[in-house]
Amino acid sequence: NKAFSQIRQPGRSVDEITQGRRLRRMRKADWSRRLVQEHRLTVDDLIWPIFLCEGENHSEPVEAMPGVERYSVDMAVRQAEKAAKLGVPAIAPFPRENLEFRDVNGSYIANPDNLINRAVRAIKKQVPEIGIITDAALDPFTIHGHDGILRDGVIVNDESVEMVVLGALAQAEAGADIIAPSDMMDGRIGAIREALDANGFQDVAIMSYATKFASAFYGPYRDAIGTSGLLQGDKKTYYIDPANSDEAIREAEQDLAEGADMIMVKPGLPYLDIVRRLKDAFAMPTYAYQVSGEYSMIKAAGANGWIDEERVMMESLLAFKRAGCNGILTYFAIEVAQKLARG
Ligand code: PBG
Repeated sequence: NKAFSQIRQPGRSVDEITQGRRLRRMRKADWSRRLVQEHRLTVDDLIWPIFLCEGENHSEPVEAMPGVERYSVDMAVRQAEKAAKLGVPAIAPFPRENLEFRDVNGSYIANPDNLINRAVRAIKKQVPEIGIITDAALDPFTIHGHDGILRDGVIVNDESVEMVVLGALAQAEAGADIIAPSDMMDGRIGAIREALDANGFQDVAIMSYATKFASAFYGPYRDAIGTSGLLQGDKKTYYIDPANSDEAIREAEQDLAEGADMIMVKPGLPYLDIVRRLKDAFAMPTYAYQVSGEYSMIKAAGANGWIDEERVMMESLLAFKRAGCNGILTYFAIEVAQKLARG
């Protein structure tokens, strides 16, 4: 180790090096930081995914997602009320259907009395001011946990689209405001749009899970909807390879051409580069899903005292805004809305 005095000093002062450009100048005080702040998280950015289960006045914890519960339909209505009171614009119900309602084709998605449709009707009736976004996906309804129909080891595209369309129609019938298909089958957006229009649902919008990646971050969600032990194989033949970014552009372009009103990126934080590319390329309403694994990682590290959970929660959501999101689906929605309301 050279003694410090022996290291050759270049001799230029910091003033000479920076040419007077001092970026710290505007960071010096709270007021000046607020003045130059480019992005802000507000309650209007939040979409709350909520899990449903059978029963009455019943809720149960989702083990892999500390702080998250499944709610019976009547309780989900009260949760929707709470969200609406806080100003959360929209709620996204996901069902944990009992095994007896699942089959190889996921046909229970089209049943007007499945959990999602019952919840949508009840929430629409009692909390009309909140928007409802439904995932027209087969995985809560199939015995193999896939988002498509499985035949001889293959997820068959066109038949899956037909089933997803039936599910989307049932959800629109129940009162869903936005249909958000997450299956990544080719042609689903156009097929859903045509079916909605043909049945008088011109006002029902489509939020495409346009760029959904084959991700390990969905793990805890499968516990939440009860598909953890069921999934046969993986979802790589229909979700995007996490290595690809150009392909995500082509997916979003296709969905927009087929009639998507809004596009979503999923998972969230590890895919902010995709958000930015989509926003720049299409200038469309763009969303991200901070998925279950992202949520649980923050919760687990927070519980261990390894991170400041609340600050990481707020920072992670602000990062979505900076990347170009118009909104974020997040399990933190209520916590964040409460925090923002406190000021
Ligand atoms: C399935 C679906 C998934 C999620 C939302 N819809 C899981 C999957 O595709 O395997 C994940 C949400 C989360 O992890 O929070 N259609």
